[in-house]
Amino acid sequence: MPFLANQQPIGVFDSGIGGLTVANALVRLLPNESLVYFGDTAHMPYGDKSPDAIRYYSLQIAQFLMRQHCKMVVIACNSASTAAYNILTDFFKGQAQFVNVVDPLVHAVARHRFKKVGVIATNVTTQSGVYPRRLKALQPDIEVVSLATPLLAPMIENGQIDTPVCRYMLADYLSHPGFQNIGALLLACTHYPLLKPAINDFFEGRVQIFDSTDVVAHTARQQLEASWLLNTDPPVAHRFYVSDITPGFQQAASMFFGADIDLIK
Ligand code: DGL
Repeated sequence: MPFLANQQPIGVFDSGIGGLTVANALVRLLPNESLVYFGDTAHMPYGDKSPDAIRYYSLQIAQFLMRQHCKMVVIACNSASTAAYNILTDFFKGQAQFVNVVDPLVHAVARHRFKKVGVIATNVTTQSGVYPRRLKALQPDIEVVSLATPLLAPMIENGQIDTPVCRYMLADYLSHPGFQNIGALLLACTHYPLLKPAINDFFEGRVQIFDSTDVVAHTARQQLEASWLLNTDPPVAHRFYVSDITPGFQQAASMFFGADIDLIK
């Protein structure tokens, strides 16, 4: 195992700029850490790709983050966490720590012992069955209804988060008959936290909404603490890389992160 130093940055990646919702939670909880973010905007959406393609892109990105000397890589994308977490942890064993976005969310939800929950996610995450499988492993009597909502991430990436189109699309998806009587809805895509207010309005506050932002940041902190890798010095500047850039991405990225950022291609 190479020596990992506290001052090394945390790498964070997603298919696009949705993972900035997780990056934002990391910065709030771990103000001394420096982030290197990579958004694979040239290949977004991952949710409609094959698991093999997602593994290939994820390996390239993790290699890039290793070259940036990251001590930890947060896979801030459910599609990549589902398809590529195992291969990344095997391939880079001993070089950095890895955090996925699925396990922290599943553990947070299972603690509440809901009878029935809904999950919305991309095609690849839904088809993997990872959420029902992991939730039932922790709570065998839970009923889990999953729905693929593939149009949401591209819509959000285009900056549509509280428009009539967005609310119409959400109403159509969330009226799914299986979602009747759910106690909670899991937002199993890192783009979706931006839709939380609109989703909450749709359910009129009757359904508890869970996303992976804060729970993933807590998991990252616990892992760093456990291995004595928390940084106590002031952070150097965060860096945000993308594989393709347009003025739209630049604008949407600042909205996702909650502060002005400059994307580097
Ligand atoms: N942010 C990605 C996720 O959490 C989804 C977006 C995409 O389909 O690329 O799955």
